[in-house]
Amino acid sequence: MKNILITGGAGYIGSHTAVALVESGYNPIILDDFSNSEKGVLKGLKKILSKDVKSYEGDCNNKALVDKIFKENEISGIIHFAASKAVGESTQIPLKYYSNNINSLLVILEVMKKYGVKNIVFSSSCTVYGQPDHLPVLESTPRKEAESPYGNTKKICEDILHDHIKSKPNTKAIGLRYFNPIGAHPSAEIGELPLGVPANLIPFVTQTAAGIREKITVFGNDYNTKDGTCVRDYIHVLDLADAHVKALEYLEKQEDNFIDIFNVGTGNGNTVLEVVQAFEKVSNQKLNYEIGPRRPGDIEKVWANTDKVNNLLGWTAKYTLEDSLRDSWNWQKKLSGI
Ligand SMILES: NC(=O)c1ccc[n+]([C@@H]2O[C@H](COP(=O)([O-])OP(=O)(O)OC[C@H]3O[C@@H](n4cnc5c(N)ncnc54)[C@H](O)[C@@H]3O)[C@@H](O)[C@H]2O)c1
Repeated sequence: MKNILITGGAGYIGSHTAVALVESGYNPIILDDFSNSEKGVLKGLKKILSKDVKSYEGDCNNKALVDKIFKENEISGIIHFAASKAVGESTQIPLKYYSNNINSLLVILEVMKKYGVKNIVFSSSCTVYGQPDHLPVLESTPRKEAESPYGNTKKICEDILHDHIKSKPNTKAIGLRYFNPIGAHPSAEIGELPLGVPANLIPFVTQTAAGIREKITVFGNDYNTKDGTCVRDYIHVLDLADAHVKALEYLEKQEDNFIDIFNVGTGNGNTVLEVVQAFEKVSNQKLNYEIGPRRPGDIEKVWANTDKVNNLLGWTAKYTLEDSLRDSWNWQKKLSGI
């Protein structure tokens, strides 16, 4: 069984990917410092998988620790999720973001080279596109200036991967540009754990429905979209997790020093109000929401062209927006003891 190191594997997307890896016959090994996750995630994984997932607690900027993990385990590939991801916080403490997100990638690449480990999948984001001129957005679309230090770290990490591969280290890399991951494992054993006030729509929606928040503010209804609210491409985290397995399988078949980038989205956009209505339908709840002013830095609309990921990785999103919202709601109910 091939060992796959998943940095940030106790996080939202990493934990669901651990499940997908086991289901596809891989052996995931988690490295996480729990800076944005809880150890209970490991218990959730055990319940779903009926076995422990091997894990190391620590910082993947700690080169000695990463070296030790590579020495102790024959690692066949890495999925590098670990990063700080709060866009708003990144504008207040940008150095934390540049330091954590960029340095951790450098450490991983250096240790991979030392041990001759070939395959890395990197978590990038559709944030690198900014507001695209044409929709749906293609991977070949030039990236725009980043809206935040967080977004800039994703651009810089993509560039680091390109420059590294150009130097022929005998490594192979895929960057996945995620659109908007939502949903949770249907068992409600793992899901998204936003710390503090959520910055993303869905945790805000589910927390409002659970009575934790009084109401949702929809940031602007005067955008150039069908109902005036922003449009995003919401993808079930199970589909996203599966895309990582497909990316690894694809990488394994490539020649050394291969690199490519893929969009991972559904190919459909939904407005904020459509999400609110779909949530009301699946949860059978009326949501308290109000229309507020636009939020600075928000992109009007973005959704993915998925032809490349569909054709080359053989991956397509299977779950609907309703499936995702139902699973998010079940996870929230579990968290809130409803
Ligand atoms: N969730 C999204 O909307 C989204 C969208 C696009 C891209 N991404 C990217 O996907 C990746 C995973 O996102 P997520 O939503 O699962 O985030 P998350 O915060 O839930 O998971 C990240 C995990 O990494 C850990 N971590 C952070 N820095 C670390 C370090 N130095 N060493 C060890 N562990 C560390 C955290 O404790 C956490 O468990 C991130 O790189 C993020 O930027 C996320």
